[in-house]
Amino acid sequence: MTKPRYALTTPIYYVNDKPHIGHAYTTLACDVLARFKRLDGFAVHFLTGTDEHGQKVQQSAAKRGMGPSDFVDALSQSFRDLAKAIGSSHDDFIRTSEPRHHAACQALWQRLVERDAIYLGSYAGWYAVRDEAFYAESETEVDESGQRVAPSGAPVEWLEEESYFFRLSAYQDRLLALYEAQPDFILPRSRRNEVISFVKSGLQDLSISRTSFDWGIAVPGDPAHVIYVWIDALTNYITALGYPDEEAELFQRFWPANLHVVGKDILRFHAVYWPAILMAAELPLPGRIFAHGWWTNEGQKISKSLGNVIDPYALIDRFGLDQTRYFLLREVPFGSDGDFAQAALITRMNADLANACGNLAQRVLAFIYRHYQAEIPALPTAKEAVAQELQAQADALLDEVRELLDQQAFSRALERIWALIAAANAAIDREAPWQLQKHDPERAAAVLARLVNVIRQFSLLLQPFMPTSAGKLLDALGVPDSARDFTAYHQALPGGTSIPKPEPLFARYQPAAASGDSDDAAG
Ligand code: ME8
Ligand code: MG
Repeated sequence: MTKPRYALTTPIYYVNDKPHIGHAYTTLACDVLARFKRLDGFAVHFLTGTDEHGQKVQQSAAKRGMGPSDFVDALSQSFRDLAKAIGSSHDDFIRTSEPRHHAACQALWQRLVERDAIYLGSYAGWYAVRDEAFYAESETEVDESGQRVAPSGAPVEWLEEESYFFRLSAYQDRLLALYEAQPDFILPRSRRNEVISFVKSGLQDLSISRTSFDWGIAVPGDPAHVIYVWIDALTNYITALGYPDEEAELFQRFWPANLHVVGKDILRFHAVYWPAILMAAELPLPGRIFAHGWWTNEGQKISKSLGNVIDPYALIDRFGLDQTRYFLLREVPFGSDGDFAQAALITRMNADLANACGNLAQRVLAFIYRHYQAEIPALPTAKEAVAQELQAQADALLDEVRELLDQQAFSRALERIWALIAAANAAIDREAPWQLQKHDPERAAAVLARLVNVIRQFSLLLQPFMPTSAGKLLDALGVPDSARDFTAYHQALPGGTSIPKPEPLFARYQPAAASGDSDDAAG
């Protein structure tokens, strides 16, 4: 039987600067989905990588006195390192400087030419190097310093040059029909509405080549032009699957992608330009574009000039990888903007992880270890005997989490998991197995077996979010490796399964008493 398949992507990040928490966030979100889908029986292709061309990258290299090629090698590696540090399980890491990508990008260009979607004209307008984007005059404004800026705040410059154009204006109706026919093509809904108004306001043809710099992929047949960095960048999603060889196994299997996850800053490129290009090339469209929100740091915009870029390595070092992963996805609904506050991370780490989850497991397992010769008691055969509601809640949770993650609702999925943890804690307080054991040892054993089963079930669901900690929990419960995917969700461990000596799972965060612990370590 062939597995169902699921393909998802992060944006490919510009290598003009060091990676920060925002980049880690998108990759982390995709990683959780990829891991969930694998455990849920899907063949997954999860793609990330780096965007290495364009004027901004060329300028950044020049500023550091480096050639662009050495520069991009070094910076791309730092994004690869970050993906690893955040625990990313991507299947491929693509770089737009790779030969496979040059070939794919030029082939796609050629195909657009053949279908008469590209023509030569001349461009005059406002361009923001920082966004690598063109803006209509009406979208720009002049700031206090007299500088004309884009809606993003990036300075724009007047640009006049010969340019190739993509006939974007021809796709207005087809794009609107697409958004209409597939209401979940763009999520969240608020962002979908913004895109629809933008498209309804009228689309201009898009300038898609530049002559004023040369760090990019040459236009086939006209090497004075390089291909606009966004056409170049978007193509990565099909390059990685073997395009232009549409018979390639990966392309056949994994294109169209089910999901492109992006930040809200680059939604227009993914929800308007990319589908129009694919329509013009007569290639299948992705299933969904999800635009997540923007992180600020303790209330401030994250920027290098403000010196408040959050270094993901510092966070992971100080609080732990799983703690960081949990916090980023739990604290803020995916799609909304979020403020990074260290105090909030510490609260979640102590309340949710150490107290609610860690203590529950520790109480149950330490008791079994001490009073049941480290062997898990058998579940009562009559399901209704003990904590039946708790069991029903746990049994329903897999479907609930699956459905929520299919909407990229990470924080709600975690909320549901923690509602079960709270119910399990309430059950242990109510049943007090250490009391029961003295006068009704049978019921005590049944309660403990029930709790072990429920802990096992939510631990399975925690694996995508907190792979290491969930793995340790499953080890602590004696769950064999072969019973850790979701096909085992409804299979309780046999009575008599032995457990190792339980160790506390989540450390509480305690700021050092001395002055050595300053609050800026992760800032
Ligand atoms: O735009 N909060 O690359 P980029 C949340 N190369 N997410 C953030 C963030 C923040 N403060 N800062 C960055 C590009 N991100 C293009 C993409 S794709 C074909 C080409 C994340 O390095 C978020 O995912 O500017 C955002 O969309 C992305 O980094 C922008 O990365
Ligand atoms: Mg950017």
